[in-house]
Amino acid sequence: MAYIQLNQVTKRFGNVSAVDKLDLQIEKGECVAMLGPSGCGKTTTLRMVAGFEDLDDGDIRVGERLLSSKREKFYLPPEQRNFGMVFQAFAVWPHMSVFENVAFPLRIRKLPAAEIASRTEEALKHTNLLAVASGSPDDLSGGGKQRVALARALAIRPDVMLLDEPLSSLDPHFREEMRFEIKDLQRRFGFSILYVTHDQSEAMALSDRILVMRAGVVQQIGTPIGVYANPSNRFVFEFIGLSCFLPAGLTPSGMQIAGATLPWPGNVEPPAALMLAGRGLLAARPTEIDFVSEGGVRCEVVNKSYLGETIDYRVQVGKTELRVQKTRRVPGPSIGDHLGLNFTRPHWYPVDEPA
Ligand SMILES: Nc1ncnc2c1ncn2[C@@H]1O[C@H](COP(=O)(O)OP(=O)(O)OP(=O)(O)O)[C@@H](O)[C@H]1O
Ligand SMILES: [Mg+2]
Repeated sequence: MAYIQLNQVTKRFGNVSAVDKLDLQIEKGECVAMLGPSGCGKTTTLRMVAGFEDLDDGDIRVGERLLSSKREKFYLPPEQRNFGMVFQAFAVWPHMSVFENVAFPLRIRKLPAAEIASRTEEALKHTNLLAVASGSPDDLSGGGKQRVALARALAIRPDVMLLDEPLSSLDPHFREEMRFEIKDLQRRFGFSILYVTHDQSEAMALSDRILVMRAGVVQQIGTPIGVYANPSNRFVFEFIGLSCFLPAGLTPSGMQIAGATLPWPGNVEPPAALMLAGRGLLAARPTEIDFVSEGGVRCEVVNKSYLGETIDYRVQVGKTELRVQKTRRVPGPSIGDHLGLNFTRPHWYPVDEPA
């Protein structure tokens, strides 16, 4: 049985369906990242798991323990859930020392003084804060303050860490460093993580599985590579990774793009339902398009910029501009060149599927 279980979890604010019938299972020691645009229900989900928000439907369990249930009218208060939480804002108390910030939740729980001291020290040690324990968190950098918040969450020896964009206010260098530290702490202490982020590379790097949400509704749950390689719909395709789209008329003899009928280039096979509809949207990653001199979908190179190792081409196909990315180590076309495109791993979506 899964460790954390969300069953049909639903939350409404007036007319807004913030979270709709969410089913999610998280294993012990697993890290699941929640991704989605602003307002899609990520924080609301986390707050329901933490116990700061009640449910309009469904239930939440950890192991055998019921945490929240609409039907049974049951809510375990947050302080009895044994969850560590870290939020985006630096939620540290400037009038308390770093040590006291970390010890505070343990004092609330009325643990014996010796236990508070040893747990606080352990948490400070693992977050590299022992040297600054007696100082004020105000003297620390943003990364340092977030480390205090992390230590405080760690000190309660949580079953689950709930992290709501904990790194988004840090500069990129610190962000990457803290990612490793969080992963390291998870390995050492074995807690599960529910991690909310806007940043897909963060989600990919940290998590065992990612969950993509849109307007309160789960679009896909899977391994990072699985979701990237096999998106369940156009929204997920566009949300995870770079993407470009090319509308096409579909006939047995070929694709109609920009007024011209192109014989089916190799490897491009739309599903039967789209063939029947006669229209489709070809979706591609910029790295999964090759330039070919003969055949392919004809295009003109309209721009070319260097992004370090890769070259980012903008190519025009009829009225549509596409992106193609190639390594700079292989000679490529120049601006103004006319040539063909071969889609090495195309995906197809209905033209009217919402973006
Ligand atoms: N206390 C509240 N009262 C009314 N509406 C709310 C409340 N909390 C959240 N909402 C609404 O619920 C929806 C989901 O909000 P939520 O904060 O969960 O989104 P989010 O995915 O965390 O967004 P962001 O990425 O911007 O943090 C939004 O439409 C939001 O306006
Ligand atoms: Mg949020």
